[in-house]
Amino acid sequence: MSNYHIKNLEEYFQVYRKSVRDPESFWEEIAEENFIWRKRWEKVLEYDFKKPEISWYKDAKLNITENCIDRHLYAHGDKTAIIFEPNDPSEMAQHISYQELHDRVCRFANVLLNQGVTKGDRVCIYLPMIPELPVALLACARIGAIHSVVFAGFSSQALSSRINDSDCKIVVTSDGSYRGNKTIDLKGIVDEAVLSCPGVKTVLVAKRTNTEIAMIENRDKWLQPLLDQASNNCEPEIMDAEDPLFILYTSGSTGKPKGMVHTTAGYMVFIAHTFKNVFQYRENDIFWCTADIGWVTGHSYIVYGPLLNGATTILFEGIPSYPDFGRFWEVIEKHKVTQFYTAPTAIRALAKESLEFSEGHDLSSLKILGSVGEPINEEAWHWYNDNIGKKQCPIVDTWWQTETGGILISPIPYSTPTIPTYATLPLPGVQPALMDDEGRELKGNQVNGRLCIKFPWPGMARTIWGNHERYKETYFSTFENYYFSGDGALRDSTGYYRITGRVDDVIIVSGHNLGTAPIEDAINEHPAVAESAIVGFPHDVKGNALYGFVILKETGESRVQDNLRKEINQIISEHIGPIAKLDKIQFTRGLPKTRSGKIMRRILRKIAEKDTSNLGDTSTLLDPDVVEEIIKNSL
Ligand code: WT7
Repeated sequence: MSNYHIKNLEEYFQVYRKSVRDPESFWEEIAEENFIWRKRWEKVLEYDFKKPEISWYKDAKLNITENCIDRHLYAHGDKTAIIFEPNDPSEMAQHISYQELHDRVCRFANVLLNQGVTKGDRVCIYLPMIPELPVALLACARIGAIHSVVFAGFSSQALSSRINDSDCKIVVTSDGSYRGNKTIDLKGIVDEAVLSCPGVKTVLVAKRTNTEIAMIENRDKWLQPLLDQASNNCEPEIMDAEDPLFILYTSGSTGKPKGMVHTTAGYMVFIAHTFKNVFQYRENDIFWCTADIGWVTGHSYIVYGPLLNGATTILFEGIPSYPDFGRFWEVIEKHKVTQFYTAPTAIRALAKESLEFSEGHDLSSLKILGSVGEPINEEAWHWYNDNIGKKQCPIVDTWWQTETGGILISPIPYSTPTIPTYATLPLPGVQPALMDDEGRELKGNQVNGRLCIKFPWPGMARTIWGNHERYKETYFSTFENYYFSGDGALRDSTGYYRITGRVDDVIIVSGHNLGTAPIEDAINEHPAVAESAIVGFPHDVKGNALYGFVILKETGESRVQDNLRKEINQIISEHIGPIAKLDKIQFTRGLPKTRSGKIMRRILRKIAEKDTSNLGDTSTLLDPDVVEEIIKNSL
């Protein structure tokens, strides 16, 4: 009963107990089914959370693309692997079969080889949601190159720092991208980024918008002619189980973004398995995850999860509001989507619009709805359940992280009774723990603490690129022998988990992870700014929005201040990207600091939330008066 479809709660508990009693046999049985292994593993698991070192399926040999593509060719070569739904609904959707995907991936892989990319090299991919994007990922994996996808909404500075951090020598991009009725000059952003990336020798450019762009001789190459010349056959590079598959950057509470490294065999087994079970995948399902492949959700549940299962996955280039707020529902009707996986922020935005947008579409193909990226509030959950699922579709509120590779806590449809705002129960093989402030594990139910995982799972990130010490420090040092997620959670009287939000200085805005420190660093670069502190505050669509408290070197008149607000957001856009812009900027004389100079963010958070009744002890502050002043002037 390894690659199981759990049928009811009792069966879930049986499987769960077995998975905890003997995790190695549990994950071994799953790996034994359905995959092509070029060589079997010597040992299922070796680990030490102190070092930390984690190895799954040691010494196994494989290529993940053989499992994503080649394995399905014999019986399912004509089946649609990817449905590309363009930004503009009047542009024809494309159906890419497994056979065609094979040919395209092989051609792309050969192009990379011809450009001198070899096993272990890092390839930066900065592309919009067009077929070249999943093809590029798989082409890298085909030849053993490590893909590092950077979300194409990030700024040139954010892009260049990621390119340099992992020494990418090649960047794959496009002439431009579409986003609703806007066209974005992606190539221009890459050009600017690469100015400060001496290691980049080649930029491959896909054509999408036909925008006229500058091509730099010897560096920039149009992708299509190279693909046309390349062979559609490329032998997969045989990889070791623990060879890196990809790097994906995620924000930390301090310092530069962390390049999370995911490896091959464990990630493959874990993602294939979680996709199959959380979405109860059946042959002929049409799966749609609305994330961008620039985030881990897209890596795992647009590309790898569906393809490993031989499923049909939708690649959506557009946005929920274009040409109108009915777009998601139109696409569901058009392609007869069976599982729909999106973020609470999108649900909240759509719930604000007229119900006519969803009522005008036939959503009866839907079987399962998913939510990911941030806590889903009760109101949004009900709106989703009532109007989209028509109370017929279980909602899977899936909790996980870039670091975890795939879903860890989630209901299993038809088995786990769902309750709004609860991610419910850990998937089999996943062992959560809640810790108190003294570092003790909270036993029993009805407890609230910091969410940790106390046993390895195959999909977990193995290190931070180039900085194993930081990996250890961030995830394995707060609680000895536990992986610490950075989230808080409660376990209710029945053992269900509810994620309460971050307990560190990471703020989730519209489902995107933003660290406060990098935003503050950006603001502080403005010549008029002396110091700044960022906190999150509740926002009815974005979940959280950003509130900045900024000390100016000289306080100007209000007109000057308004300009400064614009300039500050401009700087943030340039350093990080528009998603990190501040909703509110309050100029202040001082910040609440302890005598040792640490900003008391707790107080600022309460002020931003407009909850100033109980600020706690402020007597240890260097200048207690400043708090009153900030409250008085708060926005
Ligand atoms: C953080 C991870 C999961 C992939 C996309 C985001 C928050 C994620 C949930 C959920 C409550 C959630 C957590 C987590 N989060 N899913 N179902 N309920 N919170 O990946 O960018 O690495 O962010 O997103 O705070 O730590 P990420």
